[in-house]
Amino acid sequence: MLDFKYFAPTKVLFGRNTEEKVADLIKEFGGTKVLIHYGGGSVIRSGLMDKVTGILDETGIKYVKLGGAVPNPRLSLVYEGIELAKKENVDFLLAVGGGSAIDSAKAIGYGLANNGDVWDFYSGKRKAAGCTPLGVILTLAATGSEMSDSSVITKEDGLIKKGYSSDFGRARFAIMNPELTMTLPDYQTACGCTDIMMHTMERYFHNGECMELTDSMAEALLRTVKENACLLRDDPSNYEARAEVMWAGSLSHNGLTGCGSDGGDWMTHKLEHELGALYDVAHGAGLAAIWGSWARYVYKDCLHRFKRFAINVMGVENKGTDEEIALAGIEAMEDFYRQINMPTNLRELGVKATDEDLVLMAHKCAVALGGGKGSAKFLREDDMLAIYRASM
Ligand code: NZQ
Ligand code: ZN
Repeated sequence: MLDFKYFAPTKVLFGRNTEEKVADLIKEFGGTKVLIHYGGGSVIRSGLMDKVTGILDETGIKYVKLGGAVPNPRLSLVYEGIELAKKENVDFLLAVGGGSAIDSAKAIGYGLANNGDVWDFYSGKRKAAGCTPLGVILTLAATGSEMSDSSVITKEDGLIKKGYSSDFGRARFAIMNPELTMTLPDYQTACGCTDIMMHTMERYFHNGECMELTDSMAEALLRTVKENACLLRDDPSNYEARAEVMWAGSLSHNGLTGCGSDGGDWMTHKLEHELGALYDVAHGAGLAAIWGSWARYVYKDCLHRFKRFAINVMGVENKGTDEEIALAGIEAMEDFYRQINMPTNLRELGVKATDEDLVLMAHKCAVALGGGKGSAKFLREDDMLAIYRASM
């Protein structure tokens, strides 16, 4: 087991009608003028926005609103949000929505609390020295951004999708009412379940030291999401299943399932981020489309973890060679993706990439990583290209 730091300062209010506490929480964390940041309008159509603004009106908390955070949220809107928030003397950010609205709000927060170009943090030029306080009302269980230190933004110029991680960006509070996710299209629910599982799988497939407690929690989380994703496919209004998935989403990406290990692999995410930048695909679906090709490319270099995953998560029988068991686990995972209507390759994802596109993505990915990355297997540009080609 390695030494570790675990920092999860977000106050969570979980359950039915918890959004009614939003004004109390904003006040608790010192907010007096709020920028409410949201996406393309689902929160308006569901009535959530009216409910939230009604509560803020009643309690006398002033606010301005900025919508338009798209999936793979854009830098241009972040700049717009920073300008608006400065003009309006905003001292608190409230993201209402999924990962895109939350990530965009975090970026606005960095821009408000620091001088200079906010993209510098995402491009790795410098580190933020603070972030305007942020709260979240979550409407999509997926990215874990409500408790994570990360934010992922796409710069339109050059289609560059980059993440930035800092404890300053962690939400002060996260309101999680599973009922708010019941208006999601089935596709987004499945994308969310895929992303949640992947945040733990990225941490699970590594070649470093382990901690049994962390591994057991990771496996329980993966089994829970897998089971409940199938329940939600058949009954999207199942509250218990929505709740299991929602809480798993936060725990999957707040660091808990990485305690004591080397931090994990993360190459499926890195390969997907290039797909998201170029083809604007839904993040979870992109991950499902890449994972099988990545797993088959690396499993021999991380056989003990793939074997354990096959048996403890996918329920594969402990019979045959280690390689056979590991491969059966990968196949079972792909079967699960099919069961929840997720793609298992780029064609099924709807991406018609030319070989030139694949070469470009592999190159951008390798450059972004300073040459390469990976713990299950360290991957360089030619490995990344081989995985993209295998996923066609
Ligand atoms: O934009 P609106 O109209 O709100 O619609 C959204 C959007 O179309 C819709 N939606 C959300 N909640 C809904 C709903 N529709 C009906 N009812 C609801 N209750 O769902 C669509 C997707 O929303 P989005 O926020 O884009 O999805 P997600 O939460 O998956 O976020 C994806 C982004 O987060 C990044 C991804 O790369 C991607 O850019 N990630 C952020 C991470 C982090 N900050 O820690 C980690 C992840 O690995 C990931 O990279
Ligand atoms: Zn993710």
